[in-house]
Amino acid sequence: MILFGSLNILIWLLLSVAVETEGSKPNIVIVMADDLGYTDVGFHGGDEIPTPYIDNLAQGGIILDNYYTPMICTPSRAALLTGRHPMQLGLQHSVICAPCPFGLGLNETLLPEFLKKYGYATHIVGKWHLGSFTSEYTPTHRGFDSHLGFWGTRTDYFSHDTGGNHGGLDFWENMTVAREYNGSYGTELFGNKAVDLIMSHDQSKPMLLYLAHQAVHAGKPPQLLKAPQEYLDRFKFIKHDGRRRYAAMLSVLDDSIGNLTAALKKSGMYENTILIFTTDNGGPSAGFDGNYASNWPLRGCKYTNWEGGVRGAAFIHSPLLKNPGTTSHHLMHISDWLPTIISAIGETLPKDIDFYGVDQWPSIQFNAPSARKEVMHNYDDGAGAIRYGDYKLVVCCTENERNGWYPEEHLYIGANQKPYIHCGERNSSLPSCTSADKYCLFDIASDPCEYNNIASLMPDLAEKLYNKLMMFADAAQPPRNKPADPAAYPALHNGHWTDWLDKHPVF
Ligand SMILES: *[C@@H]1O[C@H](CO)[C@@H](O)[C@H](O)[C@H]1NC(C)=O
Ligand SMILES: *[C@@H]1O[C@H](CO)[C@@H](O)[C@H](O)[C@H]1NC(C)=O
Ligand SMILES: *[C@@H]1O[C@H](CO)[C@@H](O)[C@H](O)[C@H]1NC(C)=O
Ligand SMILES: *[C@@H]1O[C@H](CO)[C@@H](O)[C@H](O)[C@H]1NC(C)=O
Ligand SMILES: *[C@@H]1O[C@H](CO)[C@@H](O)[C@H](O)[C@H]1NC(C)=O
Repeated sequence: MILFGSLNILIWLLLSVAVETEGSKPNIVIVMADDLGYTDVGFHGGDEIPTPYIDNLAQGGIILDNYYTPMICTPSRAALLTGRHPMQLGLQHSVICAPCPFGLGLNETLLPEFLKKYGYATHIVGKWHLGSFTSEYTPTHRGFDSHLGFWGTRTDYFSHDTGGNHGGLDFWENMTVAREYNGSYGTELFGNKAVDLIMSHDQSKPMLLYLAHQAVHAGKPPQLLKAPQEYLDRFKFIKHDGRRRYAAMLSVLDDSIGNLTAALKKSGMYENTILIFTTDNGGPSAGFDGNYASNWPLRGCKYTNWEGGVRGAAFIHSPLLKNPGTTSHHLMHISDWLPTIISAIGETLPKDIDFYGVDQWPSIQFNAPSARKEVMHNYDDGAGAIRYGDYKLVVCCTENERNGWYPEEHLYIGANQKPYIHCGERNSSLPSCTSADKYCLFDIASDPCEYNNIASLMPDLAEKLYNKLMMFADAAQPPRNKPADPAAYPALHNGHWTDWLDKHPVF
């Protein structure tokens, strides 16, 4: 019977049955860690740095085992908040440097903007990094009711200034420069702010809380890795100074998540909350922003398309889950969160936006097959990668560093650590993949550590994936990057960063 004029209505009906959103819509809490090593969390086998609060949530939720992010910060945050691919956004190339006048396009709609339509209160705490050269690019102009945190890439954990020759304070409370937090440790500040927002939330409305932690990103020179002394003291047994500092920083992050969970329970919001935990990219075990994170035994690290750069630590936790305590092996990309959240709250996406993200709610709730068969990792500057089924094609690499396995060269991990990832055999007759190769092919299911380049054994598949990658690259929005503008420097603006290209920048 043709009762329904369109397939859309039918789909809408099916969805509304599936999600059972009787009563008020669930609260959404997204915790993003910055530069977290894949193997450093206990739920991935890390045994050197205890992460009991994170592990508890992960193990009582669904661990996402086949989950990918871009290799660096800005693209990752952009994909999370728009459901679009960084290459569709022109944000596939590097990150937004503090004095660089570009940002996430104003024609894009962000998660908090969608959720406001459904009555949500929306808050961001912590790092933004999606543009700030004019006020319209900053968080409280892009759907967030409030912001406490920083606009740029990195700041000192205590003074919240960016340091260097052209540095200055980068700390904001909505559109006001916030000087009074000098001396307070970033991770505690953000964790405590999140707790305050939860405890003072008017529960007649659902809440979106995006807690984009500073931890465990490197801060400002000369001491990049800072933590409160009591936390450093916990890790005296780690001899390597940098690794000890990293351990302390991660431990604060874990405690703050303990506080967050306790606040959700105390406020009564927990029962109707969906909590998402994700890193923005792999740990920078080698190269810039180095924080002595470990992705071992995965290959590469932050700022590479190797698994160590893009395979993220992530889970979802909620009393609303039907299969808590499980691990999902479905292929997932960070851009999937937006469609997944919209589905979980019983709403539908607009049809006129070309989302790269897909709705993973049916696979999370009912273990239905993932709507995702491939993940376009990136293509930029002649280097890139695409995952398709079990296989991954890599066009290697803009640089010759960071292509190894870390920290094999300098072992930071605990002596008894058992790898969560089991590498297959290394076949010495198969080349390892360098920039001299047109492309390389890996079977990630059997060779997650990217030892064996099987492009010569499966030339047809390799060529097909290469063509897919090139087609996506041809359709990409060109990089929006702009060179640094010295007019941005804090020396010209009362010692702080600002929306310097506005007619009346915050002074
Ligand atoms: C926004 O505009 C850019 C071109 O400037 C385009 O590539 C992009 O797809 C647009 N975004 C949306 C959501 O339409
Ligand atoms: C930031 O904005 C929120 C929402 O309007 C408001 O409740 C809060 O008081 C503001 N904070 C400051 C410091 O102005
Ligand atoms: C923070 O406080 C310290 C010590 O009082 C001071 O030297 C520093 O300039 C302050 N930093 C900022 C960004 O205000
Ligand atoms: C946890 O909560 C306590 C009590 O409010 C607070 O003093 C502490 O700073 C919080 N810890 C973190 C890491 O946020
Ligand atoms: C190693 O790769 C070669 C193809 O180059 C293959 O013939 C051989 O069986 C492989 N060895 C193992 C142990 O898998």
